[in-house]
Amino acid sequence: MLQSRELPALVPDVEIVPASYFAPLDLEAIYGRSAPIEVDLGCGDGSFLVEIAAANPARDFLGIERLFGRVRSTRRKITQRELTNARVLRVETSYAVRQVLPADSVALFHLMFPDPWPKRRHWRRRVVTEDFLAAVHRALAPRGLLRIATDQIDYFREIERLAGQSTQFVISSDPEPRRAPSTFEKRFSQSGIYRLVLRKVSDVT
Ligand SMILES: C[S@@+](CC[C@H](N)C(=O)[O-])C[C@H]1O[C@@H](n2cnc3c(N)ncnc32)[C@H](O)[C@@H]1O
Repeated sequence: MLQSRELPALVPDVEIVPASYFAPLDLEAIYGRSAPIEVDLGCGDGSFLVEIAAANPARDFLGIERLFGRVRSTRRKITQRELTNARVLRVETSYAVRQVLPADSVALFHLMFPDPWPKRRHWRRRVVTEDFLAAVHRALAPRGLLRIATDQIDYFREIERLAGQSTQFVISSDPEPRRAPSTFEKRFSQSGIYRLVLRKVSDVT
């Protein structure tokens, strides 16, 4: 592992800075190959992103985060671990899903502990809406997955309701592969975490 003072050389472009935020990313050019891609929406300090990227070298990983300091932490972790299959992009989650990710491109979205906005008057700031699910559907590859975890029961019930009324997803009952816990996942006892995995339904299934 690299020490913090000797960073850049090996993994120079860990943060994606697109030439245009209006054109979809060229993922093959970014990763230098064609591989299934997983996207961690709201990746925080990147702890979870680097663990899943290190454990799955045949897949590519993209962290989406809006806060500069957390993007910087993620960048540092990717570089220190010398991961060639992980990148981070500083952009708002909904915008990334709607505009920046190509259609039919993502094998798996992780939405781990989206900001809960517990006060009713702030609910409209929550990221999961009907439009968001439609955008996720567009960006997912055939049979792709959206994996959600939250500690907020009322937010979870609302996500279940939106998923239940959507014809674009089915609830996946496949057992989840074992994965490293995210930073927030470690904060809550497992019994206080509500989880849902949605599978994209499309004509191609
Ligand atoms: C509660 S933390 C969870 C972090 C991480 N996913 C975990 O499970 O440990 C939510 C993260 O999502 C980021 N975030 C919240 N809303 C966002 C948005 N609309 N676009 C991009 N990032 C967002 C926050 O800055 C924060 O880092």
